Amino acid sequence: MAEVSLLIHDLEATVTPIGTGPLRGREFGALRIISPASIAIAGDRISAVGPPEEVLREIPSGADYESVDGHGKAALPGLVDCHTHAAFLGDRAAEFELRSSGATYEEIHASGGGIRSTVAATRTGNEDELRSAVERHLGWMLEHGTTTVEAKSGYGLDRETELKSLRAIRDAEQNSPVDVYPTFLGAHTLPPEFDNAPEYVEFVIREVLPEAALLARAADVFLERGSFEVPEARRYLEACRTHGLALRLHADQFSERGAIPLAVELGGRSVDHLEATGDEGARLLAGSDVAAVLLPACALFLDLSLPPARLLADEGAIVALATDFNPGSSFCESLSLVMNLACTRLGLSPAEALCACTANAAHVLGLEDVGRLAPGYRADVLLLDAPDWRHVAYHLGGDRFAARIKSGRIL
Ligand code: NIG
Ligand code: FE
Repeated sequence: MAEVSLLIHDLEATVTPIGTGPLRGREFGALRIISPASIAIAGDRISAVGPPEEVLREIPSGADYESVDGHGKAALPGLVDCHTHAAFLGDRAAEFELRSSGATYEEIHASGGGIRSTVAATRTGNEDELRSAVERHLGWMLEHGTTTVEAKSGYGLDRETELKSLRAIRDAEQNSPVDVYPTFLGAHTLPPEFDNAPEYVEFVIREVLPEAALLARAADVFLERGSFEVPEARRYLEACRTHGLALRLHADQFSERGAIPLAVELGGRSVDHLEATGDEGARLLAGSDVAAVLLPACALFLDLSLPPARLLADEGAIVALATDFNPGSSFCESLSLVMNLACTRLGLSPAEALCACTANAAHVLGLEDVGRLAPGYRADVLLLDAPDWRHVAYHLGGDRFAARIKSGRIL
């Protein structure tokens, strides 16, 4: 075994999704639980997970490593948030208050507020301010156990601010232990200087995409009434694909308008939201390799109907969960709160919720070495201050971690 640098010994239990790759169908929610257990880490990788005496036997005598006492604690993989909008300035507290007295998210959007008000705030800031904002948001997420994050642009919607956002995301990663995967959300909504969606999409493809594609891993579009329809989404996504980006869609949030067939046709990575998806759409998605990313904190925050989580899972979809962290529709950075909502509102089991925030979320980001406690995987480990791993979902908004270990380092 490679030289061990850290041993977490005598844990009450370790828990991890079984196998490799995304888990779906019968395997969704299948976990390997070892109790008691130890974890050996070599550098930034896990080298062994197993019963304490077995792990110890594999370590050469006289080896020099740091030890963490795991008594009374359960260990789980660092959480993966596969859908966040971490790059923004300003806030939407006033809009939150308006909504509390009855205004709807869509009404606010239609009257020029909503996403566009965050676009206005984000455009006024410089790159340093934006980078510090992303760093601050990553810090919040890490506190809640997230060790890998997807972060979208989408509050610039002009060349300068979109590229500034993607660079801020890249640079924030240098100052944060969290691993960050940038997504170009160039087609979030129409900016105020355009009144024609096809023209705006042509502008993005011509003026922004070539450089954005060098900074991002994936592209995303908001396919919804008031933002983009299928023809513009198709044009944008196909162009992004020729630049090597993975394809994701915000869709079926308020209305179904052809996003799932489009995602399946284009070989997209995921369709996210799905609060308005009907049975037929859910079945089509479940039979494809396009993941269903569910965002129950957003449904709670906007009081939307809930996505057909049980149908998706039972029909074999690749189901992932994410926070959708953003200032307007989900000001929530806690994946453990999301796991709680998945269990209390969406009918998922704690085991399914854990798979959806680890192995399946990693798959959505194209990562195959994150989201499990298994040899060769990145050593991202959470020690829960409870002997039973289910506390991560059970404790409502009160996730209690005794330690966070990122790439083999205790934070
Ligand atoms: O995922 N639906 C579109 N985009 C975000 C919200 C963005 C915002 O309101 O600022 C979402 O809900
Ligand atoms: Fe979103």
